[in-house]
Amino acid sequence: MSDKTFAEQHIVVTGGGTGIGRAAALAFAEQGAASVTITGRRSEPLDEVAALHPAVIPVVADVATDAGTDAIAAAVQARGGTLDVLVHNAGVFGLTPLDDLDPADVRRQFEVNVFGPILLTAKLLPHLRSPGGNIVVVSSISARLAAPHQSAYAASKAAIDSFIRSAAVELGPKGIRVNGVAPGNVQTPILATGGLSPEKITQWRTNYATKAPAARIGHPADITPWITHLANPTNSWVTGEIITIDGGMLAT
Ligand SMILES: NC(=O)c1ccc[n+]([C@@H]2O[C@H](COP(=O)([O-])OP(=O)(O)OC[C@H]3O[C@@H](n4cnc5c(N)ncnc54)[C@H](OP(=O)(O)O)[C@@H]3O)[C@@H](O)[C@H]2O)c1
Repeated sequence: MSDKTFAEQHIVVTGGGTGIGRAAALAFAEQGAASVTITGRRSEPLDEVAALHPAVIPVVADVATDAGTDAIAAAVQARGGTLDVLVHNAGVFGLTPLDDLDPADVRRQFEVNVFGPILLTAKLLPHLRSPGGNIVVVSSISARLAAPHQSAYAASKAAIDSFIRSAAVELGPKGIRVNGVAPGNVQTPILATGGLSPEKITQWRTNYATKAPAARIGHPADITPWITHLANPTNSWVTGEIITIDGGMLAT
């Protein structure tokens, strides 16, 4: 019997063309969603994912701009105007050594990882099903794991963790739940697009797998079941929660 958990639901996954967002979008589609709008700045990866399932709709939109959030709102309107699940997954990473700081990179990380989800939540709030809407934010264990040269990324993820809790309290009376997942090191393009060399990426992943109790890095498929689980309407008593999925790294 096919899975119809998200039957008749309309879903938005930002950053749905690659990595965790791609896997999450396809998981929602495979669980019966009526539409899964995926967004990103580049059309090619979005079109590739859309070709894999008829429910997936690609929308080129930069979450860090008003034009981008307007385009996402217009796409929701075009599907009838009601949004059941909003997954804030789009994110960027970059090293920001404090003794050699590129201010533009710090701003970029906050614009995409923090301002984007906050402003997009506000823009889509009139569309979110009330009661019954769900927001899931992809945060990171970096919010709670201090590491050199990662202060901007870590601070951006700590900020979005705080947003998750505040938004859960504010939107609770509307019947809208807000939760997050905090992955550890997951095999996606994010480190390469963030400017790390292939050698550095291999070194980070090897170190992670050596230290983490699960003895490996993660894969998008390790994360997506928790995103869909949090968005599942049956889990109506879970809100303001951030679930760590990191192979046990934070326990070390
Ligand atoms: N991989 C990990 O180890 C890890 C660990 C913890 C948390 N996370 C978080 O997981 C989320 C997904 O990342 P990922 O690992 O799956 O990496 P990814 O494959 O690089 O995904 C990031 C996605 O965000 C999109 N994006 C970036 N800037 C955007 C913008 N301004 N507007 C719209 N879309 C934008 C990218 O598409 P375009 O480039 O086409 O815009 C891309 O599809 C991020 O929030 C990341 O911080 C990842």
